[in-house]
Amino acid sequence: LQQGKSSLTRIARPMTTPALKALLEKTAFTDSDLALLLTLQEPTECRALYDEAYKRTEAVLGNAVYMRGLIEVSNLCVYDCRYCGIRKSNHTLTRYTLTKEEILQAAERSFRAGYYSLALQSGERDDARFVEFIADVLRDLHALSLSMGIQDGCGLTLSFGEQSCETYEYWAKASGNRNALRYLLRLETSNPKLFETIHGHGPRRKTLIERYMALSDLRRTGYQVGTGVMIGIPGQTVEDLVADLRAFERIDADMFGMGPYIESEGGDMHADGMMEKKQLLTLTLNMLAVTRLMFPTCNIAAATALESLVPGGRVLGIGAGCNVVMPNLTPTRARVNYRLYRKKTEAEQEQIPLAVLEKDIESTGRHVAKFRLGSSAHFRARFNLAAD
Ligand code: 5AD
Repeated sequence: LQQGKSSLTRIARPMTTPALKALLEKTAFTDSDLALLLTLQEPTECRALYDEAYKRTEAVLGNAVYMRGLIEVSNLCVYDCRYCGIRKSNHTLTRYTLTKEEILQAAERSFRAGYYSLALQSGERDDARFVEFIADVLRDLHALSLSMGIQDGCGLTLSFGEQSCETYEYWAKASGNRNALRYLLRLETSNPKLFETIHGHGPRRKTLIERYMALSDLRRTGYQVGTGVMIGIPGQTVEDLVADLRAFERIDADMFGMGPYIESEGGDMHADGMMEKKQLLTLTLNMLAVTRLMFPTCNIAAATALESLVPGGRVLGIGAGCNVVMPNLTPTRARVNYRLYRKKTEAEQEQIPLAVLEKDIESTGRHVAKFRLGSSAHFRARFNLAAD
């Protein structure tokens, strides 16, 4: 998707308004429909796509935006994913792991704000000590949430990379509220060649097959399963993004976390550059909106990378069909070192006042849902569960 030589420019062509309107009314799309929607660039056409996604979100899921208090537990990682700023071989940042007390404090702030679901994220480790630490944290978070009046315990989204089935099950038990338990594990890309390229050649490298198996393990363990891809990876084509959407169908995901690929200082992909900002923003919003049209009952998060790409990106994401926001509650001392892409902006390093964030969200016409867990409607339908 490099500017100038991409299939982006090849496929894009002006669409007449009635043709676009007819396309947007469809509920099933061909690959060429999808490619067309993904490559829209005319502002009025993009707006029509985003408006449709926004409208459909409301029609199916209502007006609520669910908040997940994001806690970046640790930036230690045993992998060397080339795009990622916290990869093992980046020695320019200070490694940290929050204490249990710090995590509980951040959680308390989330619950007090009325954000009854947490998103816990970290670099990848699968050693026994880490697995046990997380289990211990999960038990205490559940107890804390009960003690703060959250009826069946808080919602939890875990984002700790690929683990064994035993670990998924162990953490699920520890979490206390299995109906509101989620796991986010992105495919990053469904193109096996590209997957291999960006995941490097170290002794511990990832494979796409194992990623699919992990997602299926998570499903079997009973998690609400979230996945997603990075958008605008050097070498990625529009056809790849269409294939990603098909992979999402096969996975039958309950939720999505997706954002732009942003070149990382600590990464190992400097020679490859990144897409031009404005094009990348458009492509990301197009992908989010198309995902909403294809998966109307799923939760879709407006990723932090989107906000990092352009201030206000999160709000644009909501305008294109996202219904989840993950305000960062990581203590400031650690936050500067959880650097997946570029150095975080001043604004991101600050604890942004939650009231300001809420006002921004409500400026889109949405309502910030408080005191709710906000599980995926797609997941709830599968098990006939009531809204939480
Ligand atoms: N740009 C955008 N997203 C990134 N991630 C990691 N590095 C980058 C980057 N340079 C995303 C990956 C991962 C998630 C935790 O962060 O998609 O799954």
